[in-house]
Amino acid sequence: PLIEPIPTVPALYSSFGFSIFAFLATIYLVPRLGPTFVKAGLQGKDLLKTYKNPIPESQGLICASIYILLLILFIPFAFSAPLLQHAGTKKTHEGISVEEFPHYQLSVYLSSLLSLLIATMLGFLDDVFDIRWRHKLPIPIIASIPLLIVYYAERGNTHVVVPLPLRFLFGTLVNLGPLYYVYMSLLSTFATNSINILAGINGSEVSQALIIALSVILNDLLYLPWPVDIRMPLHLLGDKAEVEIGGVWSAGMAYGSRELVERHLFSLYFMLPLVAVCIGFLYHNWYPARAFPGDTLCYVTGMAFAVVGIQAHFSKTLLLFFIPQIFNFLLSCPQLFGLVPCPRHRVPRFDPETNLLYPSKTLFEREPSKLSALILRLFSSFRLTELTIHPNTDNILEATNLTILNFFLLRLGPMNEKRLVQVLMCSQVAGSVCAFVVRYGLAGLVYDG
Ligand code: UD1
Ligand code: MG
Repeated sequence: PLIEPIPTVPALYSSFGFSIFAFLATIYLVPRLGPTFVKAGLQGKDLLKTYKNPIPESQGLICASIYILLLILFIPFAFSAPLLQHAGTKKTHEGISVEEFPHYQLSVYLSSLLSLLIATMLGFLDDVFDIRWRHKLPIPIIASIPLLIVYYAERGNTHVVVPLPLRFLFGTLVNLGPLYYVYMSLLSTFATNSINILAGINGSEVSQALIIALSVILNDLLYLPWPVDIRMPLHLLGDKAEVEIGGVWSAGMAYGSRELVERHLFSLYFMLPLVAVCIGFLYHNWYPARAFPGDTLCYVTGMAFAVVGIQAHFSKTLLLFFIPQIFNFLLSCPQLFGLVPCPRHRVPRFDPETNLLYPSKTLFEREPSKLSALILRLFSSFRLTELTIHPNTDNILEATNLTILNFFLLRLGPMNEKRLVQVLMCSQVAGSVCAFVVRYGLAGLVYDG
């Protein structure tokens, strides 16, 4: 039964309004603050251009600041419904009670902000000091502890549903328990770093973040009860959800409940302004770039995805949106873990004569170990890398750097920087399409219900 609507501030409208503001602020502030960053030494040379003028670096700090400040300003709007509802009752002089105010949701929100702030700090420190891998890997794990505690407090699910063919072995559900928490904390490290290592051409970092954020938004919209009356306060929307979910969109979904809708609204509140700052920044970062995102942008966007994936309980679906990043990470492993030499920059090689990009190479100063040679030959047989072999000794002398960008260049031939970033964006979109097919199409074959 629907409850009488009461006057309330439409939170989703507000979130949309805030996002428009975030977009305008980013578009306006990035070029205005650029010279200040250059003066402070935060600048970089565009590796794939002939000109040498400094480009402001770490401009992701501007995006992160706008994003986080607006998320903080949004708090009164997100939590206005219970306050207004209380104001509508006769007990106003008593103040709102602990039971009436959604403290749990507030702790979800605040712990998320905390994680985003730590990611910003880490990203900026990395831009300034170039932190070593072994030092920066554990930091997002620590940053995810508040998220995990909130997840635990809500008795968050740690079960995974076993695919039909394996059920005779494991049963229907397996409880991963603490391992599930390890997995979620690793998710935050993965999300932050995987965007950062798929970088180096104009627009690459921010366009990945933009497409992933749009995919998350699309996924969230599937869980709202349609038609959504967004003027409804959250908790009433929940009751309505129980009545209306089960329509076309939710076919094949496990269940539709008030919490489910609330979680996905929470995710929307964090993703809408992220999309806005990404679009604003992409305008300045698009080929030829006038601003560089720096590690700050990679870390903040990555952490924002980990936050919504964990808090809105769709971390496995989220991972499906990271298909190009997972591929790039797996391909990079031999270089990341020291089996193959890893130069400071693995970006493609720029040829000023033709204005085209070619796969860049890593040189072997010493003979590669047996294991490295084995892996490289295996990769080369799948055309993931191209090797230069000594004609007499059969030793590996050079290998193309193990990144998805070099892989595209190997497969599709040399192309200019703008075309390469477009290829990357297409692969990200294709990955998301696959993700939706796997999640909502194939899942029905492997899982029941
Ligand atoms: C990561 C990659 C590195 C890649 C670099 C490019 C790994 C392990 N590390 O390192 O291989 O070369 O990102 O960002 O894979 N730059 C451009 N054009 C761009 C963006 C960046 O030329 O569109 C250059 C600029 O010189 C800029 C620098 O890259 O100053 C930033 O590199 P940084 O983010 O510090 O590199 P890492 O994240 O450490
Ligand atoms: Mg970087």
